[in-house]
Amino acid sequence: MSLLKVGVIGAGTMGSGIAQVAATAEHFVVLVDAFPDALNKGKDSILKSLKKQVEKAVITQETSDAILNRIEFAEDVNSLFGCGLIIEAIIENIGVKQTLFAQLESIVADDCILATNTSSLSVVSIASICKKPERVIGIHFFNPAQVMPLVELIPALTTDESMLHQTKSIIDSWGKKTVIAKDTPGFIVNRIARPFYGEAIRLYEEGAADFATIDWAMKEFGKFRMGPFELMDFIGNDINFKVTETIFEQFFYDPRYKPSFTQKRLYEAKRFGRKTGRGYYDYSPNAIVPQPVMDKELGEGIFQRIIAMLINEAIDALFLNIATRDDIDLAMTKGVNYPKGLLRWADEMGLQNVLNTLENLQSEYGEDRYRPSALLKRMVREGKTFY
Ligand code: NAI
Repeated sequence: MSLLKVGVIGAGTMGSGIAQVAATAEHFVVLVDAFPDALNKGKDSILKSLKKQVEKAVITQETSDAILNRIEFAEDVNSLFGCGLIIEAIIENIGVKQTLFAQLESIVADDCILATNTSSLSVVSIASICKKPERVIGIHFFNPAQVMPLVELIPALTTDESMLHQTKSIIDSWGKKTVIAKDTPGFIVNRIARPFYGEAIRLYEEGAADFATIDWAMKEFGKFRMGPFELMDFIGNDINFKVTETIFEQFFYDPRYKPSFTQKRLYEAKRFGRKTGRGYYDYSPNAIVPQPVMDKELGEGIFQRIIAMLINEAIDALFLNIATRDDIDLAMTKGVNYPKGLLRWADEMGLQNVLNTLENLQSEYGEDRYRPSALLKRMVREGKTFY
């Protein structure tokens, strides 16, 4: 059976990476962008990424040439004629995405899978515009797509089961780790990861510790590769703040996901992080690097509070059938490099211990953001574990 031709729309950060992944898996790829400059930038970034792989001897120069030769760069969406799978990675705007999907149906055959890489829009809101919504699905890659192994697959309310199976087998064949998520805000990773940022900022706002100390505590006691403030500066506070804000709105303002003024002010000041030279930290050449207060008791307290909040999110996602136990743990280790799956971590720490931390916080603050998941309470009562 010959491999399907794959179309990718949007040659930005995500689209260029996804096109490279598909071409590396030997598909012929058409990468479309409405703007010629963006198309050139996309091509440059693929070239740069392939060059790096050749330098590191991951692939040969011949393989790199072959990958690039399999990608056609086009401005016109009509070039997508003949594709069997299309992945859209354009601007995060529902109206623009809907217009594009409606247009796509008049170009491709009836059995072409239409996918969106959206991070924050519901998949069904995009599918609903289509004549054949059953072939529309979410395929959510992580940045950089050519490096990060995780892909979340999101069947919408209207997606045909066979489409999910077909999509899964294609993305699995690209060497990616796929997990299946319900079409709910943030899917798996962006939902469960919220307290890593939100609770860290909250601790800072209360004056419990400074950025460097909170970052140190999460690396020292949790073995996270980066602390929350380092990571937000790396992702960009513009992106991280917008994701937080969108998730809060889409959860009908559940206080658990409330954004913070600290990050909003940083966003307003355009202190986006590394890319602007300043975020929580100052990245200018002569900046003084702040040193953490390496107090064991303080550090452990910070870690306990943030990890309990993360575990609670993971348990609640399982409780609400957002994904399976294994997919939840796989998603956090492969999508955001957590050192351990959160449900496994919960077992190791003891569910009673996690519940105590949350109940103490809830009684101290009286805030709904600390409410323990009903599943956590139930499991403690029944003496159960996740594994
Ligand atoms: P980007 O801004 O880097 O790229 C978007 C590209 O789409 C631009 O090159 C733009 O010229 C093009 N474009 C805009 N409207 C178009 C249209 N109507 N037709 C054709 N091309 C059009 O954006 P990025 O970061 O690559 O995000 C793309 C999508 O992927 C968004 O839906 C975003 O939510 C999602 N996403 C982003 C991640 C990230 O970390 N940046 C991670 C996972 C998903």
